[in-house]
Amino acid sequence: MITKKGNTRFVLVFPKLGFVVKFPIVRISALWPAIINPWKYGWETESLIWKAPVSCFFSYKYLFFSGIVANWLEWRFWRRYKHPFIHPTWFSFFGLFNIQKYGKPINNDCYFAIGSSVAKTTNGASIECGHGLESSGNYCEVNGTIRLVDYGSVRTWRVIIRHGHKLMKLRVSECLIKY
Ligand SMILES: Nc1ncnc2c1ncn2[C@@H]1O[C@H](COP(=O)(O)OP(=O)(O)OP(=O)(O)O)[C@@H](O)[C@H]1O
Ligand SMILES: [Mg+2]
Repeated sequence: MITKKGNTRFVLVFPKLGFVVKFPIVRISALWPAIINPWKYGWETESLIWKAPVSCFFSYKYLFFSGIVANWLEWRFWRRYKHPFIHPTWFSFFGLFNIQKYGKPINNDCYFAIGSSVAKTTNGASIECGHGLESSGNYCEVNGTIRLVDYGSVRTWRVIIRHGHKLMKLRVSECLIKY
């Protein structure tokens, strides 16, 4: 078993068994400031941080719930579309843990190459998803082509629906552009 850590999920990888288990990262350390800061700095400014959406990196919703939301969205997207560009998510326990098919990692040497090839193929649409479609860690390799393992964001869904059929034809060897 191997362990991996993303920004929002902690992943147990079982390559020989052919699956991974994704757990949300809940930043408990933010609980104390979340309670204390409104007293310290006043509710007017702190309410902005409380009300900011889960997609906003400084929000309390992100710090506490982004992993659960990502897990749940990943499961919902797979269940609804079963798009061949994404790697299957087999099960979710209300976002508290997900079971996904294991995927062979992409060679990390080509971190930018995957993202830039994906950006070209999507006419720049993937750039708006930020890290989601950029990082080679979010892809795996299937028969020399790329598949996405991290799709727990609605912005990423839109790009997959629109451009996924082209992206699944991208070959890893073609992405190995030298800078
Ligand atoms: N299906 C899979 N097969 C193999 N490894 C995986 C799989 N899913 C995730 N991983 C590994 O776990 C890491 C973290 O998973 P994932 O990208 O889903 O989490 P995240 O917290 O959403 O990441 P990010 O930091 O991109 O937001 C990945 O970069 C990858 O190395
Ligand atoms: Mg990721």
